[in-house]
Amino acid sequence: MSTLVILGTQWGDEGKGKIVDLLTGRAEVVVRFQGGNNAGHTLKVSGEQVIVHLIPSGILYPDTLNIIGNGVVIDPSVLLQEKASLRSRGHFLNDGQLLISDRAHVIMPYHKIIDVGREELLAGKKIGTTGRGIGPAYEDKASRMGIRVCDLLRPEELRTKVRMALEEKNFLIQHRFGRDPLDADAVTEEYLDYGKQLEPHVTDTSQVLFSKISSGSRILFEGAQGTLLDIDHGTYPYVTSSNVVSGNVSCGAGVSPASIKGVWGVVKAYTTRVGEGGFPTELKDALGDEIRTRGAEYGATTGRPRRCGWLDMVVVNHSVRLNGLTGIALTKMDVLTGISPLLVCTGYEINGVTVDRIPAHIEDFAVAVPKYREVKGWDEPLDQCRSFDDLPKNARDYVETIEHLSGVPVTLVSVGPSRDQSILRRSPF
Ligand code: GDP
Ligand code: IMO
Ligand code: MG
Repeated sequence: MSTLVILGTQWGDEGKGKIVDLLTGRAEVVVRFQGGNNAGHTLKVSGEQVIVHLIPSGILYPDTLNIIGNGVVIDPSVLLQEKASLRSRGHFLNDGQLLISDRAHVIMPYHKIIDVGREELLAGKKIGTTGRGIGPAYEDKASRMGIRVCDLLRPEELRTKVRMALEEKNFLIQHRFGRDPLDADAVTEEYLDYGKQLEPHVTDTSQVLFSKISSGSRILFEGAQGTLLDIDHGTYPYVTSSNVVSGNVSCGAGVSPASIKGVWGVVKAYTTRVGEGGFPTELKDALGDEIRTRGAEYGATTGRPRRCGWLDMVVVNHSVRLNGLTGIALTKMDVLTGISPLLVCTGYEINGVTVDRIPAHIEDFAVAVPKYREVKGWDEPLDQCRSFDDLPKNARDYVETIEHLSGVPVTLVSVGPSRDQSILRRSPF
């Protein structure tokens, strides 16, 4: 097996960055295939913490090729800042470490204004987006008004496209959101400059991946967000604007579906959610606050406190089915030390009916009452455990409960944020 997808199974922030960084030690290529800088992936190595938003989590390894695929929406200023910040810390010293798809769509200044403006007008009904312009950029992609990375390299074509886009966007900006209109020439000049800076990285990444796959390179595909935030399969409308599931690796990276050999879902040992939307197992009490504090559950992108609750296996099993999970990377087990009993949700009661599925109607999801199984907790700290047998019995039982309820092997257990705080139970490739 030479390709492996790593993706989120809950509402994001499961610890994908940590897992991808760890497994990059065994890979040659790491590929982002969807989302944008709404993502915040935290890597911790030898005491140093790095948060990446757009650049794949393989960037700390100098010999690994990182690819931003066509399915990602790119804010060039954020990408360039991220590159500069990594470089100032002694990483990403070689431009050849990163390739960017010429077909990826670009987040423009008007996308950010529209994202933030809409949320302000939605008042009590807002989505709680990251305000990074993600939704409006994907809208323009679908409506064929988008600007792509390749356009940043052609001055006259870019000028025409920006002018056309602003004819519509400036109307919204002025009359819907009450802001000053944007100047087409100024936007064009700014983005042409970004194009010049990004040019050494820009190529047809689908072709590059085709030859890497053909030669048997080990490739990781790094998901952003989580399956319950998927535009089709998540808790719509409280979702992001891209497909998060493994099926989108093919479209978003430009590789054949037949080339995807394994999918590991990252499962946090409890559940968190940032932004609005239903969350049946949410703990709105002192225990929820304690988990937030212990797990440092504050957004890596926006700094917002994350809502915390018990592990929800209805959510995880939704992901198992949609993604075809072949393994589970279980993270943040260490955070649960000292909490007993632990509750694991195995179904919901919705309007008097017991179900084990995510309902389509968000109104039904909002009133879902979780049905719990009780599992004994443990008191021993886990952060020094380095093998499955090092874990206390009740922690091993928690892992086995998850395997039993999901039918998927837990292939990796994470017991702390650092690369070495990991128990790899099965080879990823
Ligand atoms: P991502 O978006 O899925 O990459 O996750 P984030 O980086 O947004 O959030 C996960 C947080 O948990 C980060 O602060 C990680 O450093 C941290 N983390 C990852 N795995 C573990 C773990 O096993 N234990 C603890 N205590 N922290 C972890
Ligand atoms: P990572 O990759 C957690 C959430 C936002 C909001 C909704 C829509 O770090 O796991 P958007 O800006 O995408 O239009 O916001 O999706 N969201 C995330 N939540 N982790 C993320 O990424 C997220 N990316 C978006 O909070 O509820
Ligand atoms: Mg995150």
